[in-house]
Amino acid sequence: MDKIKIHGGIPLDGKVRISGAKNAALPLMAATLLTDETLTLKNLPSLADITTMTALLAQHGVKLTMTDEDGGALIFDSRHIFNLKAPYDIVRKMRASMLVLGPLVARYGKAKVSLPGGCAIGTRPVDMHLSALQKMGADIQIKEGYIIAYAPAGGRLRGADITFPKVTVGGTEDILMAATLADGQTILRNAACEPEVTDLVECLVKMGADISGIGSNTLVINGTERLHGAVHRVVADRIEAASYALAAAATRGRVEIVGASLNHLAAVARAMIDCGVSITETETGFIADARDAYLIGTDIMTEPYPGFPTDVQAQMTAFLATVGGASLVTESIFENRFMHVPELVRMGANITVHAPSSAIIRGVQKLSGAEVMATDLRASMGLVLAGLAAEGTTTVNRVYHLDRGYEHLEEKLTACGAQIERISEE
Ligand code: UD1
Repeated sequence: MDKIKIHGGIPLDGKVRISGAKNAALPLMAATLLTDETLTLKNLPSLADITTMTALLAQHGVKLTMTDEDGGALIFDSRHIFNLKAPYDIVRKMRASMLVLGPLVARYGKAKVSLPGGCAIGTRPVDMHLSALQKMGADIQIKEGYIIAYAPAGGRLRGADITFPKVTVGGTEDILMAATLADGQTILRNAACEPEVTDLVECLVKMGADISGIGSNTLVINGTERLHGAVHRVVADRIEAASYALAAAATRGRVEIVGASLNHLAAVARAMIDCGVSITETETGFIADARDAYLIGTDIMTEPYPGFPTDVQAQMTAFLATVGGASLVTESIFENRFMHVPELVRMGANITVHAPSSAIIRGVQKLSGAEVMATDLRASMGLVLAGLAAEGTTTVNRVYHLDRGYEHLEEKLTACGAQIERISEE
């Protein structure tokens, strides 16, 4: 299994071009199932999760063609879907596989999708996806670990007024897609409004969907009989952008983030500015600069967008471990999302977790390199940040987590002066 080795303590200095957002790309790829015309997606990142989604769609019958046009794109053709089952072997690797459920039931009247099961950052149920589909008239059964969903007689879901009891990104995306082909009007209240949801809405509108309330917590969808093809460019990855900005701050360096919108990162930028990091918007992105800065701690709480993203919590925690004073980090989205903390403590960080949902961090003069491993994607990036800031050598194991979400990680960091290398092991 590959490892990443980092010789830390070098302030980052350079430019990072941000890739397309994995979390936008995955639902957009699932949306191809809604049309029998081609959907062309540009700016798809080259990541393990994208390969997994490609495999899932291919086994449903989606044909994929690569094109070099406009910097590379994938063309999805869902004319000949022959299999409505999303098998356990793929769904267990990636929960976002659930996103094919809504589109398949909406277009084909039936779907069989494996239940995803637990994962490292919590139990992560799918009950809100299922109860929303039931409200739209679907018959849902759970058999042998699979969700089997049927649209009502006539094969079309019915529009419904749905209030999500809790904000769910995947649930909003799944039901939004289903509603585009439903009979009548669907209202989604307390919907997620993450930029990735908005990107999906924009693509669905290009495909002919009638959706209003874009960017808000209430989406109104008037179902239509069919959607057509479209060409869409995946929005930039705000989580990747935040990760590199925090890497600059943790190493007391300066990194120019190119291609990402600071608007999508207001809560992260605010927290970094509170700590004393300079954040300056540019025409193409923004600059995070912590050279010679006097940095102190701050308090953050993860919340649905536009609040502080849970996917940046581990990286922020690693950065806060290196600054003066105390910080309180509260995780309100997922239980069990402090698994990076014991590893950071092994690197000399002073962090106490108050179960179940908060951590107090007291900054230390210097972290020290260690051999570490993480159990999820963002936690792994938190450890990479700590390794970049630490004195000595850090080896991050289980690199496959990073490969799920960070395109060209070593290349991007090396271009900013980091000493980082991948070690391949049998
Ligand atoms: C998405 C993101 C993930 C991010 C998360 C929260 C993708 C591919 N993944 O995950 O990176 O961390 O949003 O911003 O976009 N929940 C239920 N029942 C449900 C669905 C969710 O109880 O039916 C709970 C979850 O356990 C969690 C909370 O709701 O506590 C939010 O989860 P959700 O927004 O659905 O996360 P994902 O879409 O899985």
